[in-house]
Amino acid sequence: MASILPRLLPLLSLLTLSLSTQTPTTDAPTLIQKTCNTTTYYNFCVSSLQSDPESPKADVRGLSTIAIHLAISNATNTSSFTAALSHSAADPSLRAVLRECAAKYSNAGEALEWSLDALSTESYDYAFVHVSAAAEYPNVCRVLFRKHPRLPYPAEMASREEVLEHLCTIALEIISILG
Ligand SMILES: *[C@@H]1O[C@H](CO)[C@@H](O)[C@H](O)[C@H]1NC(C)=O
Ligand SMILES: *[C@@H]1O[C@H](CO)[C@@H](O)[C@H](O)[C@H]1NC(C)=O
Ligand SMILES: *[C@@H]1O[C@H](CO)[C@@H](O)[C@H](O)[C@H]1NC(C)=O
Repeated sequence: MASILPRLLPLLSLLTLSLSTQTPTTDAPTLIQKTCNTTTYYNFCVSSLQSDPESPKADVRGLSTIAIHLAISNATNTSSFTAALSHSAADPSLRAVLRECAAKYSNAGEALEWSLDALSTESYDYAFVHVSAAAEYPNVCRVLFRKHPRLPYPAEMASREEVLEHLCTIALEIISILG
């Protein structure tokens, strides 16, 4: 063994050298790019998934759970943001509507948690149903504002609604690849 190793070493380093010089010339799309290419919001999908340090090692199912984790953190954050907005609102109807919206975003987070459970048992149809439900809750909030024409829908709520909608859409499209 001890006598073979020194003779093997130059061979090994030659091998790794040829491998490392080959890798940069083949810039095949990454799994993130290929997966995001099947979604509606390519750039948003790539930048969102890349924000997670685990994403380069993830398979397609892993990428769907990363999108869902981002959606959970957005939904939870927006629920707290909306609750704070509600507490500081002077107008009682605005306060009530914002309180309901905070509950809807909290429901969205719960539905997303259930979708993670479903994904972990490869129940892709249930995962899809839960993410679809999560995507509907921000909509319900906007409809509540529309029912009170006197209350303008806050621009900050509109942009948060859009981010969560985009995250749910890419999550659904990635789950569709899975089965
Ligand atoms: C994205 O999809 C298009 C059309 O299907 C294809 O031509 C392109 O090579 C794909 N790009 C990546 C990065 O997968
Ligand atoms: C919400 O999602 C966006 C897009 O992926 C991400 O950049 C942002 O950090 C998320 N925000 C929170 C509070 O999770
Ligand atoms: C929501 O996210 C922002 C940054 O995206 C952060 O500054 C804020 O503290 C978060 N709020 C909550 C309640 O998590």
